[in-house]
Amino acid sequence: MKNQPSRCLRTSLASMTLFLLMSFQAAALQVAEAQVTDTQIKAQKSPPSALQNNLQIPNTMEQRLAACNQCHGEYGYGNTTDPNIPRLAEKPAGYLYKQLLSFKNGEGRNQAMEYVVRQLSPAYMQEIAQYYAAQRIPYQQYPIPEFAEEVLARGELLAKEGDPARGVPACAHCHGGKLTGVKPMIPGVLNQPYDYMVSQLKLWRSNKRSTESTQCMQVVAKRMRKGDAEAVAAWLAIQPLPENREPISMQALPEELPGWCVLEENEVNL
Ligand code: HEC
Ligand code: HEC
Repeated sequence: MKNQPSRCLRTSLASMTLFLLMSFQAAALQVAEAQVTDTQIKAQKSPPSALQNNLQIPNTMEQRLAACNQCHGEYGYGNTTDPNIPRLAEKPAGYLYKQLLSFKNGEGRNQAMEYVVRQLSPAYMQEIAQYYAAQRIPYQQYPIPEFAEEVLARGELLAKEGDPARGVPACAHCHGGKLTGVKPMIPGVLNQPYDYMVSQLKLWRSNKRSTESTQCMQVVAKRMRKGDAEAVAAWLAIQPLPENREPISMQALPEELPGWCVLEENEVNL
């Protein structure tokens, strides 16, 4: 009798997990099935029959990735209610592909993601990465909490010059002079929602972001002082986007990355 409450809790946890897994399975199947349809269509040599025409199978990437976008937002623009779920749009394809591979290899430590990528082939994951990399998030004037001038000035300083005394390089050192990212492995950070930026920095600070692909951001986030995440997030969120917002190439970075930030590249060099 003594362990009844805990057994009860265990049962409800188990059924919750089962429920979650079942919904992910449905999501994963949708993505994978659409892929088969695509292959079939490509493999087809004769013109489509009238029956097939009538079926009008919707087969755009957007429709195939609807299951992903339930979490990651329309076109992968980001989840407006859960700032812990990363945006996918605009991130360089090499970076996205590496993250997908790490979930597939079980290095990602995120049950939902491990589950949805399980059935995806490397070739299809590259296609997905390229699709999201090509999206452009429309400019938005993101709201930020009310901060004193000094806080925003601190944010700007961190973004452009860093805090050398604490060993924090400028965000621009790695994210590019215009902060719009560096192909193929570093996403841009300009004009992102405040909540998203704060939550990502805090996830790194507490080792909770599951794809610890590089330790670059963990080091940066842990060296920042209290209140810095909010300051830099607020400054970044309200910046306009430059006319040319394309990520620059690694060669275009004026200085090398610090020795503790080692990027792993892969065959998707975009
Ligand atoms: C149930 C919600 C959910 C679904 C469905 C989902 N994801 Fe995710 N995804 C997440 C979460 C949460 C993370 C962050 C994991 C972490 O790093 O802690 C993530 C991370 C990612 C990342 C890494 C992003 C980055 O910046 O590091 C990629 C890429 C990704 N997902 C792609 C996909 C694709 C493609 C699909 C569909 C096949 C998909 N996701 C479906 C929740 C989801
Ligand atoms: C030493 C290089 C380096 C510095 C300095 C740096 N970053 Fe990063 N950042 C990275 C790398 C590399 C990634 C990609 C994640 C990975 O591969 O681990 C990244 C990813 C991010 C992301 C995730 C982007 C997204 O949309 O999910 C955010 C947010 C971020 N950095 C914010 C910042 C901020 C704010 C600063 C300045 C305070 C900063 N970074 C400074 C290297 C750096």
